[in-house]
Amino acid sequence: MTLEELKKEAETLRAAWAEAIGGAADPESLEAVRVKFLGRKGHLTRLLSALKELPPEDRAQAGRILNALKQEITQELEARGRELEAREREKRLAAEYYDFTLPGRWRPLGHLHPLTQVRLEIEDIFMRMGFDVASGPEVEDDYHNFEALNIPEDHPARDEWDSFYIDDRRLLRTHTSPVQIRVMKSRKPPVRIICPGRCYRRDTPDATHSPVFHQVELLWVEEGLTMANLKWIIEVFVQEFFGPGYEMRFSADFFPFTEPSAQVHIRRPGGGWLEIMGAGMVDPAVLTEVGYDPEKVTGFAFGLGIERMAMLRWGIEDIRLFFQNDIRFLSQF
Ligand code: FA5
Repeated sequence: MTLEELKKEAETLRAAWAEAIGGAADPESLEAVRVKFLGRKGHLTRLLSALKELPPEDRAQAGRILNALKQEITQELEARGRELEAREREKRLAAEYYDFTLPGRWRPLGHLHPLTQVRLEIEDIFMRMGFDVASGPEVEDDYHNFEALNIPEDHPARDEWDSFYIDDRRLLRTHTSPVQIRVMKSRKPPVRIICPGRCYRRDTPDATHSPVFHQVELLWVEEGLTMANLKWIIEVFVQEFFGPGYEMRFSADFFPFTEPSAQVHIRRPGGGWLEIMGAGMVDPAVLTEVGYDPEKVTGFAFGLGIERMAMLRWGIEDIRLFFQNDIRFLSQF
């Protein structure tokens, strides 16, 4: 090879290089181009090894030309490498882009059933007044649900509590009052308890009656308690639960297990009167039955309907809405 030939080949190589590097669009193809020109069997490497074929006096000049070309190629290679790397980085960042200003994804969140909310609030009010929370079985026996509450077998008052019987002696409790008997039989006075729980009656469902409903029983037995204390407790409770604007009516009633007996009605602003509870002074016959001395202690009790409290609070016209589990209704509370 002559010097002229080598110069020509170097020019051809430079042109080929320019085209090749221009076409390398990503780091992999750039690496392929590098191998093609600078690799052990690359074009430039091959040309460099041809140096020794030149006459000795031309070698220095040819060497300078090829070294300059090599330097040029190496520099362009590096510059292009940095450029492609920056481009790759930008592409990656764009793919990973998070828009922190987008609103979050909404997940439906459940909450307590309105009846549970009301029960917890009632428990809370009476616990602050110093009452314990007691409980009793929903499957009761005739003795606790009726007899011990001064309602013998043939008593006409049994008709008021039309019951679901399980067998001759057992039934689903018709009220929470049997818990009074269980508590008094297991504790000495003073007794101050409430008992929230489910009750069952063969009542025909209507806007204010459900065959399954909830009551909160309250019982306070101690020396010297009077009807005035009962009335005071109810007034404080109603005021605490409903706040201003609600009216309360206290009137006479009859229950075999209290004497005297009363019922309480509440009116929501703009609404009608709704009975919320039966109440009264524990009948001496009941105190005697559980082994208390009616000459020493007196007591009072009430049975409050939880559904009715919720209806009055939110102005709900039909009790059946609480049991239909319609999310459009429940999600309002
Ligand atoms: C009783 O159940 C008595 N045990 C209450 C009592 C306790 C009196 C202690 C004296 C001393 P009554 O049947 O009236 O009473 O029910 C009391 C309350 O339970 C009613 O005022 C009402 O709020 C609620 N209630 C009764 N039956 C239903 C029903 N079918 N559906 C919804 N709520 C009811």
